[in-house]
This record gives sequence, structure tokens and C-alpha cells, in this order.
Amino acid sequence: MVQITSTLSFLLACSTLSVAAPIVARTAAPKRLLNWNTWTPPALEKTQYFQPTIRTMAETTGQNFQFAQNFAQANPGAIVHTFNEPELNGISPQAAADAWNTILAPMRASTGCKLVSPGITNTQASVDWLNEFFGKITSQPDFLGLHFYDKVPDNLQSWLEARHGEHPFPIILSEIASTSTDQGTVDSMTKTWANYMDGADIVHQYAFFGAMPVLPNDGGFIPTTTLLMNSSGDWKPLLKELVSSSPMQ
Ligand SMILES: *[C@@H]1O[C@H](CO)[C@@H](O)[C@H](O)[C@H]1NC(C)=O
Repeated sequence: MVQITSTLSFLLACSTLSVAAPIVARTAAPKRLLNWNTWTPPALEKTQYFQPTIRTMAETTGQNFQFAQNFAQANPGAIVHTFNEPELNGISPQAAADAWNTILAPMRASTGCKLVSPGITNTQASVDWLNEFFGKITSQPDFLGLHFYDKVPDNLQSWLEARHGEHPFPIILSEIASTSTDQGTVDSMTKTWANYMDGADIVHQYAFFGAMPVLPNDGGFIPTTTLLMNSSGDWKPLLKELVSSSPMQ
């Protein structure tokens, strides 16, 4: 739901970046990082840990598009994310599908990258947007892009299974977080969800939202309990456990 503007401080704050990139996909080694941008963070320039995001229409053209394309060319099989919550950001299914058909799929053909479908969040209107998008694209994605936010743990599995039933591609959850304002609930939901997703065949990668010292902008509906770092940029125990233990205790 949020636009990231604090990427630089977020990265500089990660003193243990070489051990585990802070946005994490534990289900697939090596661990990965995405920052909602097409440009590679300086600390990761010489690695393949990064996943660029074509976040809005602005990233389908010019220098921002070039960053993603260059990364894809330099890193065979790179995963490229497309359109961050387009249904909430004024991008129509038709406009997204046009960009997919004429810009993104050709980039995949020329670089060999893998494309993640637009990362919709978990509302029925978002699902309607996605279904319309799928009806208009002329080549299929490699991964199904989803976000998920909830205050209770129970709804995740059925949501993912329903989306995968409609579009049977391996899921990349590029944002997931508990939105409970109770820290104990956030901690236990994070563990429950991580353990479920580690064992779920339909989930290829997932990234918990919140590996940053402060919420970007006003954070929208996301509470500070979701943050995985403290305000000095140090990793909270939950983030350390998230990147090191499976199953989480
Ligand atoms: C953040 O955590 C580190 C390590 O535990 C600690 O030294 C530091 O004081 C904390 N910062 C804040 C603002 O709580």
C-alpha cells in the first residue's frame, strides 16, 4: 500500500546485508531483496540478490526501464516484478496488459528474465482487476504476484489457494504482513505464516513487509508493529529468526 522513498537509509542501515538481504525469500536460496525500484542498491550491485520492480507506468520507459533491462541482461534468469498494486494506483487492466504485451514480454524475450504478474493486494476488487488483466495478455507470467495483509492468521492459505486455482503459476508474495497493532500477535502471525509458506508448494518466494527503520510516508493502514527493524536500523529478533530459522519457533 505504500511507496518506498527511504530505500537508501534502509539499505545503509543493514549492517549484516551480506549475510541475509533484509527482504527475504526463505523458500528459495539464495535470499533476495526488492526495494520497489528498478535500480540496484549500491550494496548489491555486484550480486544477483536483487529483484527489480517495474512499479508504475513511469518505469516502463526511459532510464528507469533501462535499469531493469540492464539488470535482466546482466543476470540470466533474473526475476522482474511488474506493477505494484496497480488496482489502487490508477493503472487499468488494459493499460497494464498493453505494457505487458508490448514492453515487458519483449524484454523477457530479449533478456531471458522471468516476469511476475502485477502485485495485487487482497481485496475482491483487486482480484477482479487481475482477472481482467489475465484476459488481455498475450503471454503468460512466470510467477503470480500477490500481496497479503490481515489482522488474523486464518485467511492466508485459502486466499493463496483460491488465487492459484484461478492462475496456476508459482506465487511470489512480494509483500506480506500482519496489520495487528499488538506486537505479540504480529510476531506469532509472522511465524505461523512463514512456517505455512515454507511448506506450501504453491509459494515460490515470499517477502515480509517491514525490513526498514521507519514506515515510508505515513504508512497508510500499516502499523509500526509491522516494522522488522528498530528506529536505529538494527534488526529486531523477529527478523533475525525469520532469515535464519525454518521452521520458526
Ligand atoms: C536498536 O537495537 C540495538 C540492538 O539491540 C540497540 O543497541 C539500539 O539501542 C536500539 N535502538 C533503539 C532506538 O531502540
